[in-house]
This record gives sequence, structure tokens and C-alpha cells, in this order.
Amino acid sequence: MSAPVESTSPTTVGVLGAGRVGTAVARQALRAGYRVLVAASGDPADIALIVEVMAPGALAVTAADAVRGADVIILSIPLRKFDTLDPDALAGRVVVDAMNYWAETDGAMPALHDDARSTSEIVQAFLPGARLVKTLNHIGYHELETDHSPAGTPGRRALAVAGDDADARAVVLDLIERLGFDGVDAGPLAAGAALEPGTAIFNGRHDRTGIEALLARAAEQLSPAVR
Ligand SMILES: NC(=O)c1ccc[n+]([C@@H]2O[C@H](COP(=O)([O-])OP(=O)(O)OC[C@H]3O[C@@H](n4cnc5c(N)ncnc54)[C@H](OP(=O)(O)O)[C@@H]3O)[C@@H](O)[C@H]2O)c1
Repeated sequence: MSAPVESTSPTTVGVLGAGRVGTAVARQALRAGYRVLVAASGDPADIALIVEVMAPGALAVTAADAVRGADVIILSIPLRKFDTLDPDALAGRVVVDAMNYWAETDGAMPALHDDARSTSEIVQAFLPGARLVKTLNHIGYHELETDHSPAGTPGRRALAVAGDDADARAVVLDLIERLGFDGVDAGPLAAGAALEPGTAIFNGRHDRTGIEALLARAAEQLSPAVR
């Protein structure tokens, strides 16, 4: 495993979750030239075949090895399982929260539903040392494949990036760019509320101008502390 490196151009992406999103992110990260480690919650042998078929070139590893060996870690697991993550292992690491509260598939989670914080702030509270960044939650897993395009393409699809650690945001903005999307800096993690299910950003395809306008509108409705 490579040692974690602090860089705005990480070389290894660790993906937690070998489902629809995890394998789609892994495939696109490979296309973008990253080394990719994929883990589910158990034995890597259980996901070896799906990883080989869905993301050929990625390595199936344990969750601990995916975290240890990656420069940036993607959380693509059901939100209701966030408390199965290892806060100690993720401390100090750049971690992308691609998870959504999606009651239709996850079932109702009253504790989340009734919490005024964005879901990423709740995850951050469980992972206090992680340098958490919200993004990749507001694009369908299949759209990662169909909607990417080279930088400078007119109308290029954009994805917003929210997090409290500016250096971690920079790392993830670079990741989004390399995956084939314009990365739009949305500011602090609390701004991730504007990316959640039910929002205009979540519900549509937007270019940079469109996302910036929607973020500005959402910021007007947030508390002054978030602006
Ligand atoms: N569907 C979309 O287009 C879309 C788009 C953006 C974001 N999202 C969000 O992305 C997340 C994943 O969605 P999905 O559709 O890919 O789910 P999924 O197909 O059900 O896959 C979930 C994966 O997470 C793994 N997992 C669970 N706990 C884990 C842990 N502690 N460590 C490592 N892996 C773990 C599961 O493995 P085991 O079998 O070992 O538990 C499984 O491989 C959800 O939060 C969803 O809301 C979905």
C-alpha cells in the first residue's frame, strides 16, 4: 500500500462501498488515471468478482486497507450505515461524503429527518477528525459515465463541493475536475444542505453558472454564520 500523501493531485482513491455508486466511481477514477482500492464491509474475496467486472483494474481490499492506502477516500455506503465507519482510521484523511438520506430505499431514519443539520454535518460529528467534503451525492451513478466531458466543453456539467477544510476542498475539487466535471467551491460543510435530495441542485443537471446561482440563492436562506 502507498503511504498517504498530502497533495492536490492524489494518486490513489479508496472507495468504501462496492455497490452501484462505489463501482461507478471506481470505474471513472480508473479512467481518470487513478489507482483505485475498493472495499465493502467484509472479506475482499466477496467483492473480487464484482470489482473485476464493474471496475477492471481496481483492487478489492479490506476497508482498513482502502482507508490506509488511499490519498482520498469516498464514502459510498448507505447513510444508515455511517456509524459502522472507523473514526480513528479516517482521522486526518480527506474523505468524500457521497451519501444521501433516501428514505425510499434506506427506510425512515427519524434521528436524521428531525435533525436540523445537513447529513454531512451529522457524519462529520461522528468522524470528528476526518476532513469531510460533501460531493458526488448529487449525480446519478450512471451519469458519472454519461455526463463527464473535457475541461472547457461548453455547458460542461458541474458538481458542488462543500467542506470546512479548505485544503481538503481543493483536493476534492481537483478530483472532480479529473473525473470530468467542473468543480464548484460551495464553501463550508453546512452548505452541503443545498446539495441534498429535494434541492434544485440535486434534482437537475447544471453547469458552473447554474450551480453558482443556486448556491447563492441557498446561502441567502441560511444563517449568517454559514454565509
Ligand atoms: N443511486 C445513486 O445514483 C446515488 C448517487 C449518489 C449517491 N448515492 C448514495 O451513495 C450511497 C451508496 O449507494 P449505492 O446505491 O451504491 O448503495 P448499494 O448499492 O446498496 O451499495 C452499498 C455498499 O456499501 C457497502 N458498505 C456498507 N457498509 C460499509 C462499510 N462500513 N464499509 C465499507 N463498505 C460498506 C456495502 O457492502 P456490504 O454488502 O459488505 O454491506 C455495499 O457494497 C448511498 O448513501 C446513496 O444514497 C446514490
